[in-house]
Amino acid sequence: MDEIAKRKKDHIDITAAGAAGYAKTTGFERYDFVHDALPEVDFDQITCETRFLNRWFSFPLFISSMTGGHHETTPVNAVLAAFCEQYNLPFGVGSQRIMLEDPSTRNSFSIVREEAPSAFIAANIGGAQLAGGLEKEQTELLIDTIRADAIIVHLNPLQELRQKGGDRKFSGITQGIRTLVQDVQVPVIVKETGAGFSGSVVEQLVDCGVSAIDVAGAGGTSWGRVENIRNDAPEPHFTDDWGIPTVDCLLMARDFVEDKCELIASGGIRNSLDIAKSLCMGAVMAASAQPVIQAIRSGGFDGLEAMFKRWEEDFRTILCLLGCERPSDLDMIHLRCVQGR
Ligand SMILES: Cc1cc2nc3c(=O)[nH]c(=O)nc-3n(C[C@H](O)[C@H](O)[C@H](O)COP(=O)(O)O)c2cc1C
Repeated sequence: MDEIAKRKKDHIDITAAGAAGYAKTTGFERYDFVHDALPEVDFDQITCETRFLNRWFSFPLFISSMTGGHHETTPVNAVLAAFCEQYNLPFGVGSQRIMLEDPSTRNSFSIVREEAPSAFIAANIGGAQLAGGLEKEQTELLIDTIRADAIIVHLNPLQELRQKGGDRKFSGITQGIRTLVQDVQVPVIVKETGAGFSGSVVEQLVDCGVSAIDVAGAGGTSWGRVENIRNDAPEPHFTDDWGIPTVDCLLMARDFVEDKCELIASGGIRNSLDIAKSLCMGAVMAASAQPVIQAIRSGGFDGLEAMFKRWEEDFRTILCLLGCERPSDLDMIHLRCVQGR
């Protein structure tokens, strides 16, 4: 197996096994809901429909960018795509960098459009690849191969620094994002991969004109830890637990985002409580990766469907107990901080 194939497989194996979580938490446990004993809403009236980037989805969940790039990853992308098509959820493919270098890997990405002709699908490329400036034809290839509805730029300096042969050049990425926003017809979304965005990074991304920002904070999958495991690091390393907790990212981001771009909450989203708290904190959507890959690993399409149905039912219950009819009704007033109790 070549190095890239092994890396893709390792990433799925390690994360699906739940072996690479942060020791620090997302911070969602610092908040509890304000129970409403007089909800004045009927359970059957409640809708989970959510508007994001000018499109309606069935539920405020974005299936985070994960995989592609080797034939062994094709079945995973096929399941993700078929699932998102059936349930009208947005999703992203994994980094398409490999596709630019090796045309034989394109099928592992294009399968998603075959399985999901009408779903919202986001392309994916690393910020480090934008630093040098992508050729116009390369950007078009990323988008056209999957007829993408948006393009995601992932920023992951932590993972790159811990990965053998990973990128080391990070200067010029901000300008690369600015140029991409001007060059493409589809919305640009920028995400971290689990170490989170500070308020200052969010401010810079808003200034670049991006359409949505996914904070992807700490508390879920640690990509420092994933690479440390892959390198057989003998001792715990500080990069296992490096990053800004998701809740801190959200609370910083909301001040800068306002109505200029849409906010996605991710990094450690593990149930409907996390999704609802994220929306209270200003996110339009929550996004999740590890639980999704774990559900597919253990039960394929049916496993993912069972998880989603559980999350959907729980989310509707939460809305009802807060007196809310729809996701957009959720607000900070529905939370109380219980930190230090
Ligand atoms: C198996 C796997 C592969 C991933 N590959 C990518 C990728 O290629 N591009 C990307 O932007 N994020 C990638 N991610 C990161 C996720 O999109 C997400 O930001 C991160 O795992 C934090 O979310 P979580 O705590 O729900 O796992 C990957 C995640 C997993 C689990």
